Amino acid sequence: MNQPATSAELKRDLAHLIHPLQRPAAQTGAHVWVSGCGATLVDQSGREFIDALSGLWNVVVGHGRGELADAAARQMRELAFATNYAGSSNRPAIELAERLSTICYPSIKKFFFTSGGAESNESAFKTARFFWRLQGKPDKIKIIGRRWGYHGTTMAAMSATGIASYWPMFEPRVPGFLHIESPYPYRFQPPADAPAGDRRTQGEQAADLLAAAIEREGPGTVAAFLGEPVQGAGGVIVPQDDYWPRIRAICDRYDILLLADEVITGFGRTGAWFGLSRYGIEPDILSFAKGITSGYFPLGGIGVSQRIAQAIDDAPNESTWMHAFTYSGHPVGCAVALANLDIIEREGLVARAGEMGARLLRGLETLRSHKHVGDVRGLGLMAAVELVADKQTKAEFPPAENVGQRIHAATQERGMFTRMRGDVYNLAPPFITSEAQIDRMVEILGESIEAVLGR
Ligand SMILES: Cc1ncc(COP(=O)(O)O)c(C=O)c1O
Repeated sequence: MNQPATSAELKRDLAHLIHPLQRPAAQTGAHVWVSGCGATLVDQSGREFIDALSGLWNVVVGHGRGELADAAARQMRELAFATNYAGSSNRPAIELAERLSTICYPSIKKFFFTSGGAESNESAFKTARFFWRLQGKPDKIKIIGRRWGYHGTTMAAMSATGIASYWPMFEPRVPGFLHIESPYPYRFQPPADAPAGDRRTQGEQAADLLAAAIEREGPGTVAAFLGEPVQGAGGVIVPQDDYWPRIRAICDRYDILLLADEVITGFGRTGAWFGLSRYGIEPDILSFAKGITSGYFPLGGIGVSQRIAQAIDDAPNESTWMHAFTYSGHPVGCAVALANLDIIEREGLVARAGEMGARLLRGLETLRSHKHVGDVRGLGLMAAVELVADKQTKAEFPPAENVGQRIHAATQERGMFTRMRGDVYNLAPPFITSEAQIDRMVEILGESIEAVLGR
């Protein structure tokens, strides 16, 4: 049963709990989430909110799935934990890796498990360096990411992240991580050195920034390119259709690995099992987390192509892949993931994410006529509305006006909860969100924009 709202509870929170991105002022009116059902979350006052971000992009099958609780309890009773280090294994981990080999990219058949997204990306970076070292190319160490990329907040993942606000208080960043511009269709500017009469599309220009960076750095020093198929936390940036195929070709031309961060796009979010298949290409390594367990247990991992798997397996003793986490292949996490994949398959949720996403985007398009709605974008069930001070110039609002946070407050008053990137409103609800809830989300956002910015 819900407890009545209590400020005493929030005082205890303030006294003892440090939150991600801690800001005490944010805690005074914080929601203490107490239960969830489907696409709805309930806070300490008993108020219901549409969970417009699926928790943190992860609760893809929705809240309150007893089946996942049962899978966890069953596994905990049988075997709560055992090491998965070389020389040991467990049945849920074996079954999950095998299952992933049937739904992942055709060239990716082997998997390593972690506890979340940042650990997965760390694993991907280290594996890329390991691979090149074994090929006799130990100087190939640099990782090229992109502006607006979000890859987690451990030291290397933070260094790969291309949202600068994550860096300053933790400098120096890990050396060897650099960034190119995001393809960002709404804001992309042709490079200053573009030749006169340049006939390349915007997507080709954006991809060619990678080639330029590799040339600048020296191909012999670059290990990999890292990117989310659709940039998520950076504001749901959907690239041009010709971007990724060209990126793949550039990686091949310069002999660098393609790392796909599919922590958000993996397991159906874009309307396909994995995000790059829409573009007809495959990565060398993919990172995943979030949707694999719908957040019911912290689990992530990487999948690697055959030649990388072979390198790991064939490494001589003195060059062993010395990479490990206590919780790698956690039997409970793997059991929950298997039950979660059962739900996704049984209920046809990948296709549903595509259908509900199309409905959401159609709805959001109706907001485009508002004088401060600069851009509406999305792919599958991830979408964003970017608010601007001036549609003509695309100028942003002055940060002091706090437009994003005021819109966020207005949507909460109307019963919807998400996370913003500045003045970009991100939407990525669970795949089971009903049509009525999708329509209501559009209505709430439209009303909130008018309440804050006028008609
Ligand atoms: C694309 C992407 N990569 C990595 C991460 C980091 O995952 P975690 O917070 O589980 O470390 C996130 C988290 O939002 C993410 O969206």
